[in-house]
Amino acid sequence: MSAVADAKAPALVERRPDVGAPFWLLAELTYRCPLHCAFCYNPVDFARHEDELSTDDWLRVLREGRELGAVQCGFSGGEPLQRKDLEILVAEARRLGYYTNLITSGIGLDEQRIVALKQAGLDHIQLSFQDSTREVNDFLSSTRTFDLKRKAAGLIKSQDYPMVMNCVIHRLNIDHVERIIELAVELDADYLELANVQYYAWAQLNREQLMPTREQLQRAEAITNQWREKLGNKMKLLFVVPDYYETRPKKCMNGWGNVFLTVTPDGTAVPCHTARMLPGLAFPNVRDMSLSDVWYRSEGFNRYRGDGWMQEPCRSCPEKEKDHGGCRCQAFMLAQDPAAADPVCDKSAHHHLIQQAIEAAARPRVIEKPLVFRGPKESRALDRAF
Ligand code: FES
Repeated sequence: MSAVADAKAPALVERRPDVGAPFWLLAELTYRCPLHCAFCYNPVDFARHEDELSTDDWLRVLREGRELGAVQCGFSGGEPLQRKDLEILVAEARRLGYYTNLITSGIGLDEQRIVALKQAGLDHIQLSFQDSTREVNDFLSSTRTFDLKRKAAGLIKSQDYPMVMNCVIHRLNIDHVERIIELAVELDADYLELANVQYYAWAQLNREQLMPTREQLQRAEAITNQWREKLGNKMKLLFVVPDYYETRPKKCMNGWGNVFLTVTPDGTAVPCHTARMLPGLAFPNVRDMSLSDVWYRSEGFNRYRGDGWMQEPCRSCPEKEKDHGGCRCQAFMLAQDPAAADPVCDKSAHHHLIQQAIEAAARPRVIEKPLVFRGPKESRALDRAF
């Protein structure tokens, strides 16, 4: 029986009254990517997980996700356009009733593919740029892709998609915020996300080089606010502040196993992009387990639900419902304990680590460490080193 015909089989989801359904299914289709961004959020050891799910596996995941109740489906990577079956998966997701979203660098998008994606029913595309200039864009991605991205922006517009542009902001491009906004205006963007880098995966490796000063950040936010006033409703501007400059942590992923269900290229299911690095925690693979069991019954998705796992100061904190103790991955990376309070919180015993990083960013310095650009060779070398 083909996977699509199989999609008509009755749903067998055993729900739990204490756990809601996932809202977002994020399909990380591949870790392959033509770019080599120094702030990539893919795990540093991604080259270890190259064995990708087949088309039929993904079709089953899409179907089971819908049966579970997910309504948004994001296709990301790596670069999802590297998968030749992307249009098949989008068409099936649309048929199942998801709102579909493609998160792309634009590399690999051409006339034929944009038309095919439109026909498949793709609802929304988010296109990333690394900077407003060819020079910095191409340096940060270690590729010559600036002109290709501009071309992709035109293709997206040609099919009447809203132009949703994303640019990751950090020390090396934060002073170009005004020019990045001007580029978005030139490309007739409807929405621009200025997403300050958060320090996970490759960005954590390169944190020293990527972290802006507080003054840079304040200046960039002020410029963004001026443009907000100037542009009014013509373009929406979102400025995402980096965690390190906050005093209270974010409710990461809107709560562990609460809204997001991510399936990585090799089928491992995780509550967030980087959870796989957390020690002592087994994450299920969709090749061995139904998505319903992954969500409701697996150890990986249950470990940090509720507040039973919390230690002090989170356990007695009046804000615990609001922030849920912050980010488990950040707690592990900085405090070596995934159940600790996120060190971003100024009540955390490890908050000094954040302050030290901010102070180091403010000191005039010459950074001798070269940026580590993401790539399979680098991934394998780092994997051997740790
Ligand atoms: Fe994993 Fe925050 S990124 S819990």
